[in-house]
Amino acid sequence: MAILEKSVVTENVNRKIEPYPRLRYMGSKYKVVPYLVDKFAEIPFESALDAFSGSGVVGYALKVMGKRTTSNDFLNFSSTVAKAVIENPGVTLDPEDVELILAGNVDGRDFIQRTFEGLYFPQEDHEFLDSAWSNIEGLPVYKKELAIAALCLASARKQPRGVFTITTFRYDDGRRNLRLPLRDLFLEAVEEYNSVVFDNGQKNKALCSDVFDIDPADYDLVYLDPPYAPPKDDNCYIKRYHFLEGLSVYWRGQKILENTKTKKLEKRFTPFSYKRTIKDALRELVHQFRKSVIVLSYSSNSVPSKDEILEIIREEKQHVEVHEVPHVYSFGTHSAAQRRKVSEYIFIAR
Ligand SMILES: C[S@@+](CC[C@H](N)C(=O)[O-])C[C@H]1O[C@@H](n2cnc3c(N)ncnc32)[C@H](O)[C@@H]1O
Repeated sequence: MAILEKSVVTENVNRKIEPYPRLRYMGSKYKVVPYLVDKFAEIPFESALDAFSGSGVVGYALKVMGKRTTSNDFLNFSSTVAKAVIENPGVTLDPEDVELILAGNVDGRDFIQRTFEGLYFPQEDHEFLDSAWSNIEGLPVYKKELAIAALCLASARKQPRGVFTITTFRYDDGRRNLRLPLRDLFLEAVEEYNSVVFDNGQKNKALCSDVFDIDPADYDLVYLDPPYAPPKDDNCYIKRYHFLEGLSVYWRGQKILENTKTKKLEKRFTPFSYKRTIKDALRELVHQFRKSVIVLSYSSNSVPSKDEILEIIREEKQHVEVHEVPHVYSFGTHSAAQRRKVSEYIFIAR
């Protein structure tokens, strides 16, 4: 196993990925993307699936590389971002669209103001979110997803540490993003998302499914970046990002746990979160996508270990290589901060 170094061959691709809007998302691969791109560049393939897309950055890299890209995540929020920047063949939000979104509340809705009063943002920001949503509702496809993605990015940036697990401003360190009105952060986010929209000449797609429901037939290469089962601690995305998940669909069809202080949504089960189910889930995943080249990311301080993963992959695949990316997580809860200096493995199985 060799420690990877960034290559100059893919510098151009990486330059185009650089402006991709950054969200503090647990396990996001912004820092690992250049290494992934180098590895992807060595493999002949035309179509690709990013099966656990999260922030969308890896699917975006595949799009930049000219591949026919499908992005999937079981969260609506992630899937909306992928629809806005990966499936979207070039539609942007014009100044008139933005003006319309900023026009007053057209239907008097106040769900966000009523539900989250005193929790995450000052009431003017909640009013802005209700009002913006009342106008976004009527936008055509891609403009709508871009606007929702920008609302979510703005909201995440106005939360200390980007998560919605705390309802007081005790972490308010006076940073600019925490003080600016959400409306201003939204305008910045619109610009950022607009700037990365392009057509790569392929029919790209965003799905919102459980990974095990995806038909594996259509992909030459599948990138797997499941949640890492931590030895202690938890890795629940809903607990951290419930507000973004709700906001992405205006909480329609979502069940708020009313007795929680954070007004979080019901947890979504995934077998990748637990030590007792992770090995079987990985085995099932490798079996499901056995006909494709599989590229799997996993972190060195999670279970199962590198050798156990190799064993699982070898049950289906003859040729497996492992690469190591020295990786310092930018995300950190207190206990995660202690696990910071971990490496990221990239398994490539053909
Ligand atoms: C490690 S993150 C992916 C990060 C992503 N590669 C990035 O760069 O931002 C794992 C993602 O898997 C999603 N997920 C977890 N279980 C899933 C399942 N059973 N089916 C589909 N997506 C799932 C989570 O919502 C989360 O976004």
